[in-house]
Amino acid sequence: MVDIIKKKRDGYTLTKEEIDFFINGYVQGEIPDYQVAALLMAIYFQGMDDEETHLLTDAMLHSGEVLDLSAIKGFKVDKHSTGGVGDKTSLVLTPMVASVGVPVAKMSGRGLGHTGGTIDKLESFTGFSTAITNEQFIKNVNSVGIAIMGQTKDLAPADKLLYALRDVTGTVGNMSLIASSIMSKKLAAGADGIVLDVKCGSGAFMKKEKNAFELARKMVNIGKQAGVKTIAVISDMDQPLGRNVGNAMEVEEAIDTLRGQGPEDLKELCLTLGSYMVTFAGKAGSSEEARQMLTDAISSGKALDKFAEFVKAQGGNSDEVYHPEKLPHAENRMTIKAESDGYISSIMSEDVGIASLLLGGGRTSKDDVIDLSVGIHLDKKVGDECKKGDVIATVYGNDQDRIESAVERLYSAYSFKMTPVKPEELIKGIVD
Ligand code: URA
Repeated sequence: MVDIIKKKRDGYTLTKEEIDFFINGYVQGEIPDYQVAALLMAIYFQGMDDEETHLLTDAMLHSGEVLDLSAIKGFKVDKHSTGGVGDKTSLVLTPMVASVGVPVAKMSGRGLGHTGGTIDKLESFTGFSTAITNEQFIKNVNSVGIAIMGQTKDLAPADKLLYALRDVTGTVGNMSLIASSIMSKKLAAGADGIVLDVKCGSGAFMKKEKNAFELARKMVNIGKQAGVKTIAVISDMDQPLGRNVGNAMEVEEAIDTLRGQGPEDLKELCLTLGSYMVTFAGKAGSSEEARQMLTDAISSGKALDKFAEFVKAQGGNSDEVYHPEKLPHAENRMTIKAESDGYISSIMSEDVGIASLLLGGGRTSKDDVIDLSVGIHLDKKVGDECKKGDVIATVYGNDQDRIESAVERLYSAYSFKMTPVKPEELIKGIVD
């Protein structure tokens, strides 16, 4: 292991044997954390070429169980986002595409730090559970068209160990490490096609467009080398997606979008990602045709009904899909007002995520219990004009001290300008 660390430290390329040695040794507990931490730091600074990244992914993918989804009829498409704030696309997308006949077999995670997780959000529905067996998972995809389960401990265990170590050693933000982490899990989860949403901007791992495109290219290459159809959409995360941040509040916004009334950016991103999922699955001849099918599924109510059916199949109260006022709601609120006339020039997504965490809506360690009812509504977004005294954001919480800390953090997330501001393009490009 010392030789491998020194080799990478000095900028050389690791071989398959060396990569397999360190992944297998780490998973089996034979290589200590401090040596793997040193290697991760060497990788962080020296990088890995495409072949090394592919070999690392392959070693991680085969460090545990690889799901066999062949019992599911049809072409299964998975979707993954590199992580953002207010990102509730999976809640909208999965029922939308399932309602036009694309089977969705999805593994999702919980939130950690300032980012949320799909599983926590779904647990806003009374009784909903993602703790289902592989057999139930496959059965639900065949009968309902969607199933979402938590990542089992047997799936890509090397990623679990490495991610926890990266989190505490300042080595998360390396492209090869991110690409192999995401793709090893996605490939182990057995989909036939993968649509990636690579976030770019202040609230994302990749702050610069150039790096987001490079990460997308690496992930698409890994997918293709594994024989899985893969495409990446690069989307803006310079401000949160949609207007709500917080678990139950994001579910409400997803329901609004499935009813055709959600925010424009969320709807647009879901239609873009969804149209690739539908064309991958061969249900439409072009992304334009797929887009039309998805738009029709929203206006006919088919997508919302599919969401209710899915929530019910996993033990949740589907009545709450049609009556989101029954979802958990916080008791108190506090508004933030503009102190002068102007235009919103930026909203730092990370600070908004941290404000939600301060309210109790997120975790600082993986065993924390979260308050699903709390969150933030962004009344104004980038480019919006505001007059002195206009409400720019509303904080919903259950504890006054927490609300005040969140308000302070949220206020610092906003920047203003005196002259009109043009928001960033939502979709920055496609890598296929
Ligand atoms: N999400 C992951 O699953 N892994 C990373 O490394 C970064 C984001």
